[in-house]
Parts: sequence; structure tokens; C-alpha cells
Amino acid sequence: MGAIKLSLFKDMLGADETLFKNPIALDYDYQPKLVPYRVLEQRTIVNCIKPLFQQRNGKNALVYGAPGVGKTVATKHIIRELEEETDEIIPVYINCWQKNTSYKIILELCEAIGYRFIQNKNTEELFRIVKNVLNKKAAVIVLDEIDKLDSLDILYNLLEDLYRKTIVLITNYKEWALNLDDRIKSRLTPEMIEFKAYNLFETRGILKERIKFAFIDGVWSDEAFNLVAKKTFELGDIRIGLHLLREAGQTAENASSRKVGVEHVSIAIKKIDEFSIKKSSELEDETKFILAIVKKNSGERIGELFKIYQKEGGKGVYKTFQRKIGKLAEGKFVSLQRIEGGAEGNTTLVKYSSNRSLKDF
Ligand SMILES: Nc1ncnc2c1ncn2[C@@H]1O[C@H](COP(=O)(O)OP(=O)(O)O)[C@@H](O)[C@H]1O
Ligand SMILES: [Mg+2]
Repeated sequence: MGAIKLSLFKDMLGADETLFKNPIALDYDYQPKLVPYRVLEQRTIVNCIKPLFQQRNGKNALVYGAPGVGKTVATKHIIRELEEETDEIIPVYINCWQKNTSYKIILELCEAIGYRFIQNKNTEELFRIVKNVLNKKAAVIVLDEIDKLDSLDILYNLLEDLYRKTIVLITNYKEWALNLDDRIKSRLTPEMIEFKAYNLFETRGILKERIKFAFIDGVWSDEAFNLVAKKTFELGDIRIGLHLLREAGQTAENASSRKVGVEHVSIAIKKIDEFSIKKSSELEDETKFILAIVKKNSGERIGELFKIYQKEGGKGVYKTFQRKIGKLAEGKFVSLQRIEGGAEGNTTLVKYSSNRSLKDF
């Protein structure tokens, strides 16, 4: 059997051949050498850091924008350049989704300053050590996905106790910043830096560059690439593009094709469409449920609304609830009014806006 060669398979990709040159370049956390189209945003962040080079205190920044628009990659790029530029400023990048407590953040900071004797020390003790070291120099601390942090105590301490620093907060939710409590807000006074979605030209540029690294030259047909770029632009998330490039490449390879064609991209797109339709209808139900509660209790405090939501069977945690309210406010389905220093401290009132209907979803 093994000796028989069918001519039918002659033009096919051999079992030991591949279309990929370096698939790692399609990983979401792959750090490309250059981050094009984000020069202005990066310059604004750098301007916040600049005073640190002149022995002064830096400015803080709040970076916001939808998922997959380059917030993380652009900021990490700055951190890396800073590392190469100077030893006088200590750069630290922390993802708060992975490190979601004060203690975990402190451990990251200990690692950044090279402090190893962490056993049997609590958050306060470790913070004192970190503070003493960082205050001999200056620090740039990036807290990515800051809205995932379970308590902002550590942020408060960093703001209060570090003399020369720039703290960069990154979030997908602008309204998160608007709901910050005053003791943090007044110390943060950040430069607000919005990352807008990429246009089609930029989307194409970014994906083209990745193809150069990830695939053998010439395996992508123009039509297939155009399809990926268009879909990515429509959904506004570069990650979708990276995913489609990989999936389509894999599909082509599995079919032993030497080229990635429209048919392979179409299969990949169909899969994500099925996935995202399911996701958005779930989200819609939950959001509708919350909106209905606001409608019945218009003008109520957000904490009270959450209690009602739970009583009526809502399963989300408070943070998620808050975020959905924020989304509804962005869409003008509800309006928010902040009340400062009332009997129960600061709170937000949520009012139903009757000029939008659920059908607009
Ligand atoms: N300007 C860019 N140049 C190169 N790659 C980019 C650019 N913008 C985004 N990417 C890539 O797209 C993906 C999503 O970007 P990321 O920074 O993680 O988005 P965000 O943090 O805004 O959710 C990452 O894999 C990233 O490398
Ligand atoms: Mg990110």
C-alpha cells in the first residue's frame, strides 16, 4: 500500500509542508516591533511621562476605547522603550484581570524592583518596601483592565504615597472613570486618552504586516485578504482579524491547499458569526432585563436598583451590573446623575430615558 502514489495528490501540500512561517505572530499577546497608527496617542502618554525625566512628578493618564483597538499593545510598546532608555524610571505593566487584588499587584511591584523576600509579609509591609525603593527613583505604572481590580485601595496608595510617578490606567469602559470615587478622582486627575476604532485603511495595514511575519510569502490571495480586512473593520476589533487569518490559514492547510482563498476565509467567518450571534442575544436579554428594572424604578439610586435586580433573579455581580448601566447610559437609554456627599455619601441616580425604545437595540 505504502508504495502506491496517487497522481490525484500531486499538487497538494505535503504532510510536512505548511503555509505558516511563524504562527506566533498571530497570537493576541504577540508584541510587534512597531505599533503604527497610534503615534499621537503614544505621544500623549509620553508627554505625561516626560516630567519624570526632569526630576518632577509625572501626569497620570486614563486610556479608554473598545476592545481590540491597540490600547495594550501601544502602551506596552512605551514601557519597553522606557526600559531601554533609562534606569532612573522603573516601568511596570500589570494586567488587573490576572492580578485582581492589592496583594497580587504588590507582588508584581516587588518583582519589578527585584525584591524577593516576600514570604510572611502582608500587603502593607510589602507596600512600604516597594514605596521606599520607588521613591528613590521614579515609576511608570500601567494598570491594564483596571475595572477588573476588586478594590481600588492599592491605586489610592500608589497615588498618595509615590512622589514621582505616572500611573496609566487602561479600560474598555469610559464610564468606569466617571463613576470613580472622589478621593481617587481628585488625586488621579488623568489625561483622558481615547483610542478610536481603526479605519479600513489602518485595519488593512496592521493585518498585512502580520501576514508578512506569520505566513509563507504569497500564500494569501488578495480577495481572501480583502474579506478578512473588511470583516475585521466591520467588527472593529483587530483580534477578530488575527483569529480569521489563523483559522483560514489552518482551514486551507487542512484542505492541503497551497493558497488561502475566499472559500477558506468564508468558513472562518461563518464560525465567528454563529458565535457572536449567540453572544449578543444573551447580552441583549440581560441588558433588557436591567433596563426594565430601571424603567419601573426610574430615578432610584444604583445600589438600590442592584438590590431589586437581585431580588428579581439577576445573577450578575455588582460590577457587571454597573457596567451594563453604563452601557445603557452610553446608548442614551438611561441617564445618570451623580449625587455627591448626600446622607449616604456619594451615589448615582439612574433615570429611564423614555425617548429611546427597546427596539433600537
Ligand atoms: N497599531 C497596531 N499595530 C500592530 N498590532 C496591533 C495594533 N493595534 C492592535 N494590534 C493588535 O491587535 C490585537 C489587539 O490589540 P490590543 O492592544 O490587545 O487591544 P486592546 O488592549 O485595545 O483590547 C493585539 O494582538 C495587537 O497586537
Ligand atoms: Mg487590552
